Amino acid sequence: MTMLSRRTVVGSGLVLAAAGAAGYSLWPRMGDYQATVEQQRRLPAGDATVQELVRMATLAANGHNTQPWRFRLDGQNVSILPDPSRRTAVVDPDDHHLFASLGCATENLVIAAAALGRHGEVVIGPGADPKIDIALSSAQPGRQDLFQAIPLRQSTRSIYDGQPVSAADLARLEAAAREEGVTVLIFTDAADRDAILDFVVAGNSAQMDDPAFVQELADWIRFSSARAVETGDGLFAACSGNPVMPEWIGRRMFPLVFRKDSENDKYRAQIRSSAGVAVFIGAAADPQHWIRVGRSFQRFALEATALGIRTAHVNQPVEVSQVRAEFARWLGNPEVRPDLVVRFGRAPALPMSLRRPVSAVLA
Ligand SMILES: Cc1cc2nc3c(=O)[nH]c(=O)nc-3n(C[C@H](O)[C@H](O)[C@H](O)COP(=O)(O)O)c2cc1C
Repeated sequence: MTMLSRRTVVGSGLVLAAAGAAGYSLWPRMGDYQATVEQQRRLPAGDATVQELVRMATLAANGHNTQPWRFRLDGQNVSILPDPSRRTAVVDPDDHHLFASLGCATENLVIAAAALGRHGEVVIGPGADPKIDIALSSAQPGRQDLFQAIPLRQSTRSIYDGQPVSAADLARLEAAAREEGVTVLIFTDAADRDAILDFVVAGNSAQMDDPAFVQELADWIRFSSARAVETGDGLFAACSGNPVMPEWIGRRMFPLVFRKDSENDKYRAQIRSSAGVAVFIGAAADPQHWIRVGRSFQRFALEATALGIRTAHVNQPVEVSQVRAEFARWLGNPEVRPDLVVRFGRAPALPMSLRRPVSAVLA
């Protein structure tokens, strides 16, 4: 639990009183928010346009919800390109998360297309700044359950129910994540979860001691539903189980309540309540493999969603380079770069996150 000092409580009381006097409503306009969520998350029908497939792609997981992608359409060909203006240079200096996010979007697009009777042939380009080309052609309609999971998948950053996931479900998750050039390790023993938790706490502590990391994160938080709807991006407080408040109050409160000890306690409770942790490892540390890792993760998360299992990233062990090297050693292979760390288990849903409209992401 976050401990607030007496001074903080008195101070925030004054801030809240001032907000009331200034005519701000402290009750968020969640109606607008929810209506936008529902409109963005409609499932398209069989005659869907390529733009509708792009809308499905944008519902993919992506770092800090920056949506670092642009889509170029040419008939039945779609190219997904990185959007460098949406880099997060502090948490992701080499664009690892950016390219993994493009992989997540690719997977959503291909799964939606398959369910609607179109095969998507994916070619990942060469070099340090690859684009992803997807050629669509008609085919028999494919799996529907992963498609239907696209608008329901979310990063659920809450305490889970502490119950194990059955061996049959673990096998389905493993099968869903299978991708050439990607290894997925699933840890369900309490001792392994606690060891991974130690890496999360080490990484989180280093990040919270870095003012540039905290500032970059704060820049992407949306404290009010109005601001979340206005930008269509970023981390809306309610999606992380945090209180919603007017933007200017949130910005003042954030440094007071976002503390290393309470954040580490939160991660301890979250990871110990999870059924397990999945670690995704690409065979090489380059953008092509990061895209593949993203595809593998997105399929894992969609299969989980279809099974009623929640997922949430706890990537601190792979985001801080020194912790990452120690984590690779713990995984038994100091040569590899572990890419993603994801906990899973069962819990109620949190509010869904928003996206920018398709028109804003067309190149
Ligand atoms: C490559 C990558 C890294 C991520 N890292 C984290 C993380 O460390 N912590 C976290 O809470 N969420 C993380 N996320 C989840 C994103 O914040 C989330 O996908 C985004 O806010 C959109 O929300 P949604 O997943 O509920 O649609 C990551 C997602 C991706 C694709």
